Amino acid sequence: MPQNTDALLPIMTGQPVIPVIVLDDAKDAVPLAKALVAGGLPAIEITLRTDAALESIRRVADEVPEALVGAGTILNGTQFDQAVDAGAKFVVSPGLTPELVDAAEGSPVPLLPGAVTSSEIMAALEDGYSLLKFFPAEQAGGAAYLKSLSSPFGGVRFCPTGGVSAKNADEYLALPNVLCVGGSWVAPKDAVTSGDWDRIAALAGEAASLK
Ligand code: 3PG
Repeated sequence: MPQNTDALLPIMTGQPVIPVIVLDDAKDAVPLAKALVAGGLPAIEITLRTDAALESIRRVADEVPEALVGAGTILNGTQFDQAVDAGAKFVVSPGLTPELVDAAEGSPVPLLPGAVTSSEIMAALEDGYSLLKFFPAEQAGGAAYLKSLSSPFGGVRFCPTGGVSAKNADEYLALPNVLCVGGSWVAPKDAVTSGDWDRIAALAGEAASLK
């Protein structure tokens, strides 16, 4: 079955930046999500890079209904299922494997998988995936590389992440094949650990106004 684009497209077009979140302590999840929502970024990606990730997703799903919580760094089918059980509304992966395609098959929770090379994009298209993450964006060749993919892959739309920040997000957002960007800059680690939610809301507000 093809990608659940009906569920994914509104998320990718609803805000210019999807915050990529790494949380070491689940107690920070709810105030962080509220700060991002207050700044105008309701869709947030909590990455499964820490032990606190699934509990953080669960808390945001339960306690911050105005947020749209997603799970990132999903590497296999088990993690896809765990994220959905925790309440993730969308799932992001740096790549795409047959196991992930199977896990996402028929799920109401859409999968945004990553692809960088032409062969990876063609394989994703064969699996019915045309909305893709482009990771790691800056390191893989940046906006110039991504722009050059728009001719052969006219129907593919990307969310570049990795090295994207307030300084270069507009270069990506100006591309015809980019719907949104992702990045961790809106939730800096020091602001999270010190509970500086006002600073995060302000950063989110700036990111939400990018065009
Ligand atoms: C991701 O998983 O999308 C990236 O790690 C985010 O990259 P950044 O920290 O450079 O924004």
